[in-house]
Amino acid sequence: MAQGGIPMMVMNTGPERQTGRKAQTANIMAAKVSIDKVLYRKAGQLTPSALQTVADVIRTCLGPKAMLKMILDPMGGILLTNDGHAILREIDVAHPAAKSMIELSRTQDEEVGDGTTSVIIIAGEILAHSLPLLERNIHPVVIIKAFSHALDDALKVINDISVPVDISSEDQMMALIKTSIGTKFSSRWSDLMCSLALKAVRTVSVTAEDEAPTDSVGIKTVDIKRYARVEKIPGGEIEDCRVLNGVMVNKDVTHPKMRRRIVNPRVVLLDCPLEYKKGESQTNIEVTREEDWNKILLLEEEQIKAMCDKIIEFKPDIVFTEKGVSDLAQHYFLKANPPITAIRRVRKTDNNRIARAVGATIVNRIDDLRESDVGTECGLFHVEKLGDEYFTFMDECKSPKACTILLRGPSKDILNEIDRNLADAMSVARNVVFNPTLAPGGGATEMAISVALAKKAKAMEGVAGAPYRAIADALEVIPRTLIQNCGGNAIRVLTELRVRGFILISEDAKHANGEHQYGVDGDTGKVTDMKTYGLLESASVKIQTLKTAIESAKLLLRVDDIVSARRPGQEGGEGGVQTMGEDAGDMQPEM
Ligand SMILES: Nc1ncnc2c1ncn2[C@@H]1O[C@H](COP(=O)(O)OP(=O)(O)OP(=O)(O)O)[C@@H](O)[C@H]1O
Ligand SMILES: [Mg+2]
Repeated sequence: MAQGGIPMMVMNTGPERQTGRKAQTANIMAAKVSIDKVLYRKAGQLTPSALQTVADVIRTCLGPKAMLKMILDPMGGILLTNDGHAILREIDVAHPAAKSMIELSRTQDEEVGDGTTSVIIIAGEILAHSLPLLERNIHPVVIIKAFSHALDDALKVINDISVPVDISSEDQMMALIKTSIGTKFSSRWSDLMCSLALKAVRTVSVTAEDEAPTDSVGIKTVDIKRYARVEKIPGGEIEDCRVLNGVMVNKDVTHPKMRRRIVNPRVVLLDCPLEYKKGESQTNIEVTREEDWNKILLLEEEQIKAMCDKIIEFKPDIVFTEKGVSDLAQHYFLKANPPITAIRRVRKTDNNRIARAVGATIVNRIDDLRESDVGTECGLFHVEKLGDEYFTFMDECKSPKACTILLRGPSKDILNEIDRNLADAMSVARNVVFNPTLAPGGGATEMAISVALAKKAKAMEGVAGAPYRAIADALEVIPRTLIQNCGGNAIRVLTELRVRGFILISEDAKHANGEHQYGVDGDTGKVTDMKTYGLLESASVKIQTLKTAIESAKLLLRVDDIVSARRPGQEGGEGGVQTMGEDAGDMQPEM
């Protein structure tokens, strides 16, 4: 394209275009095929002829008997995970519809953190069920309307069957987090991971009264991203993972003579340099006499001494700054009584966490330093060597509002997966703090919705019943997949579940005596009462999953024209208009 370094624009002369039914079908197929194609290339083992849906690809990643995927990223790194979002994030696809499917799992991840596999499986299944509807010449608008209706009804069902949870109860919270961790690689250390997640979330959750005692009573903030930092240090045992009662930063003291262990330190946090002040703009000083030069140096020294004296007045034990600390300042600090330990070039985010943990305020100008800015809540300051790096710990804080989660484990890949699992667990705990209701897991909720919708669809008049019914059928995919993943007999177990569901519906909901609690035991593949089995999940995850899945299916159905603005023959360009058959045959690697 570029000649002699001059970039040349190539206008698109023949954009590819696909309209009407063909576009709709292609969308559904893309959701089915494109990812399969990419994964096939990457993993090299999935059969290209088997037309697997996007959902099919990550279907084996659902539930307690989930398989891991190993993905080689373009940089040559390995991703070892069964987290739906983490898998799809690594995949690049050509077809816009497949891209939008991947976007789905990202939405889910950002909104609630868990359920990213479920949302793709459900959305894929709904799309697959809408294909026969399109073939029966039902207008997409009719389908979409029925889908919206079904979504409303489904949300009502979730509301009906979910139960409140006491977020201060250790047992209930642990059981809930366990359900989320139980489907992950870390499930072997389930108890440990659950308590890590719970402790981290409890640490960083603050009520509005803590922050600003205004009239916004009861509103909580749980900022995991900012205040609960995960430090992954390869080496050691997984059992050594812990949540610190405080924070840790990857720094050492600036001078080897400084104290590395202090009990109950007084901490000053700065975000200004402890060096001579440089001019704001470029300054030139012309000196004619030698004494003048000495005077300038002296002034600089005095400036630093004045700063240090001001700090020393407050008798701190440790000074953290985001900027530099000059040798001279270190000298004054060491000579102070008590000698001061200085740590420099701390990251802004770390400094914020330290501030929350030790109860200090970050000071921008040393003249503004007040006694109330000094942090005194840290119990023990110490510097340790982990692996081959030094880490500064602010541990045993009295009531830290920020924490570091220290993960140890055999390798970087495993630590990364544990980190992702923990992130899921923490977001589940956070969701429940905001919306303390639980829905039964193991496919029980999906089954209850499915049965309720199927019942209603029968009574519906006209053509809208079919798409409504499609949602009901599609939702069965979750229990079915759970059964399949553990090698159970899907048809028999599903039938049993359905029948139990109908008992509930046919009797008055008042004496439903909890039949909708029946779901699949993901280890044996048998029908089990989720109440006694103890498998409960955050209702907000379920609600978000359904909303995202159905909304995206609606979106894709609304498309009746795909115009690919790529040049014909350009990499991946063809994907835009291929039909399923051609797509499956075209397996040349793109990268
Ligand atoms: N022990 C179990 N028995 C049966 N079903 C289970 C069990 N544990 C979890 N499940 C079910 O597994 C599903 C969750 O699986 P999983 O955690 O693999 O995927 P996800 O939450 O959709 O996505 P991800 O965690 O990858 O973001 C839920 O429907 C849950 O009810
Ligand atoms: Mg999960």
